[in-house]
Amino acid sequence: IDASLDLFAEIEKLKKEKNAVILAHYYQEGDIQDIADYIGDSLGLSQQAAKTDADIIVFAGVHFMAETAKILSPNKKVLLPDVKAGCSLADSCPPHLFKKFKEKYPDHLVITYVNCTAELKALSDIVCTSSNAVQIVESLPKDQKIIFGPDRNLGAWVAKKTGRDLVLWNGACMVHEIFSREKITKLKERYPDAKILAHPECEEVILETADFIGSTTGILKYATNSPAKEFIVATESGIMHQMIKDNPDKTFIPAPPNNNCACNDCPHMKRNTLEKLYLCLKNEMPEVTVPAHIIADAVKPIERMLEISA
Ligand code: 13P
Ligand code: SF4
Repeated sequence: IDASLDLFAEIEKLKKEKNAVILAHYYQEGDIQDIADYIGDSLGLSQQAAKTDADIIVFAGVHFMAETAKILSPNKKVLLPDVKAGCSLADSCPPHLFKKFKEKYPDHLVITYVNCTAELKALSDIVCTSSNAVQIVESLPKDQKIIFGPDRNLGAWVAKKTGRDLVLWNGACMVHEIFSREKITKLKERYPDAKILAHPECEEVILETADFIGSTTGILKYATNSPAKEFIVATESGIMHQMIKDNPDKTFIPAPPNNNCACNDCPHMKRNTLEKLYLCLKNEMPEVTVPAHIIADAVKPIERMLEISA
């Protein structure tokens, strides 16, 4: 595309012409967050997808998020700037294997973290996000047997917080498992007043060091409302954009990864660029679709989540 093109202006123009809305996750690059109509965590984004009156939803996030938007708004066109923007966590739970796993626990209710494929959601009773997982488990009777998947770290954290015994699927996110406890501890010695903020997809050894554990929205709110001036942030680096924007007087330090080659960027989230977003809105592709029979089964557990967390 023409390098002199003002992508911000062009996207604004196309958005109006096509009655489109741009929903972006906090892990997207800064330019995408700046042009978005709504930026949020997975719960906020699905609430927006359910209520928008736009004809087109451009989902600046990853594939499972765009699928969730399509399930909630099947009559709208849902676009994903890069259709290859997947998720290691969603990939760690192939539906055919999960189906077999579920058969071993016929008297269990299935709660799935939203970071999974539409097919997996269709095998679930309730979906959850990191911001409502505890609330959803607590909304069920104490003796209710529960399978929780696909994230073992979030599952273990929810089990600990609720005192429930959850049967966990052994999946994880590649970004949230790279942090080094040793390096975080050393960093804390250099910044003794810093608060450690962590996403519950991190391993337990990291969560044990944290002053606050929550979703991206939760982490952002905590940083803004806290009187502390320094924060060590154990989640994907995209969150830094809003943190710095909202709190220019505070210092945010990315939690160090466990080797010098790794970084805190999610390679899937970062596949989307402003240029790809412009092209996808202009050409109305790549479009994300979900088969009607999967939508029919997957919408129920998502709606159940939205009802519980309303
Ligand atoms: P939340 O924004 O809901 O905390 O999700 C984090 C995440 O890993 C999304 O891929
Ligand atoms: Fe998936 Fe982890 Fe990337 Fe989120 S950060 S999209 S859970 S791989």
